[in-house]
Amino acid sequence: MHRRADAIAAALGRGDDVAFVRAPGRVNLIGEHTDYNGGWVLPMALELDCLVGYRPRTDGAVNVVSLDAPDDIAPWTDALLEALADEGREAVGLDAAVATSVPMGAGLASSGALSIALGIALCRVAGLVLEPPVLAEACRRAEERATGVPCGFMDQMVAALGRPREPLLVDCRDAAVERVALPDDAAIVVVDSRVRRSLSDGRYAERRAACDAAAERIGVPSLRDATPEQVADDPVARHVVSENERVHRMVRALRAGDLEAAGAVLTEGHRSLRDDFAVSTPELDALVERLLGLGAYGARLTGGGFGGCVIALVARDRVPDVDGVVCVC
Ligand code: GLA
Repeated sequence: MHRRADAIAAALGRGDDVAFVRAPGRVNLIGEHTDYNGGWVLPMALELDCLVGYRPRTDGAVNVVSLDAPDDIAPWTDALLEALADEGREAVGLDAAVATSVPMGAGLASSGALSIALGIALCRVAGLVLEPPVLAEACRRAEERATGVPCGFMDQMVAALGRPREPLLVDCRDAAVERVALPDDAAIVVVDSRVRRSLSDGRYAERRAACDAAAERIGVPSLRDATPEQVADDPVARHVVSENERVHRMVRALRAGDLEAAGAVLTEGHRSLRDDFAVSTPELDALVERLLGLGAYGARLTGGGFGGCVIALVARDRVPDVDGVVCVC
């Protein structure tokens, strides 16, 4: 953190008047591809975060540099300015520099962390105060504009509100949140498959369109309202309906401190993403099996899929020794 803060201050030059804001990356414990179907998600903030240093400018210019991906920051800045203008942000300028510790393209929502941290900085210099769900939705729109991916707002919600070891139950229909504690004797291990993926290759959008089509065919506003019987013959929709049920089962298991039951939900969720929703890869499947073989209570891919990271629920005093551990939380 200090080293990143120093690098940011150096990039901004002169003076000690730099203000900082941070927003975390996340893992999603369960509730995958349910956010854009009006369902429930259970993401948890990581200690890894995006750090933004900024200083207001009086001339209205907005200059943002990224210390990690210098060529990629302009579309984000433009999209955020546009989305925040929709929320009433006046054109007040800043100089800002961004540095992240969330690995990119690993399914840990590095872009959610970036958009929330930069979004808060832009709001602060303009004196604009937004409720977290409004900020999250604006940053979601910015992400869709910047990347073309029609994502939901799970990542932005947890970047705005999440805390480590405190899974956040979000009802994506009305943005109501409840905090759930990870039992003291449990840990989540995050392991990188090293398969890099981009959700902008069209496969995420395809899944989303299939969900919308299924809801229309069934005659419900979104798949959150569908019953298991209505989706029995449609694997994509079946995943969404069964996944919503798993979110509630996971919350009950965590609140009861039942790690066996919580682990079973994770592994079942992975099989549903693999077999019904079809967003896993052989590398992710192998990693899940390896972690289960090493005694994890349960394991699954986390995030949108097609690569990235696997999470495993383990006893806190028995963290398995595997290659590719990003963090233990
Ligand atoms: C990505 C999106 C989220 C969510 C997940 C899948 O992370 O940004 O909105 O849809 O995929 O659960």
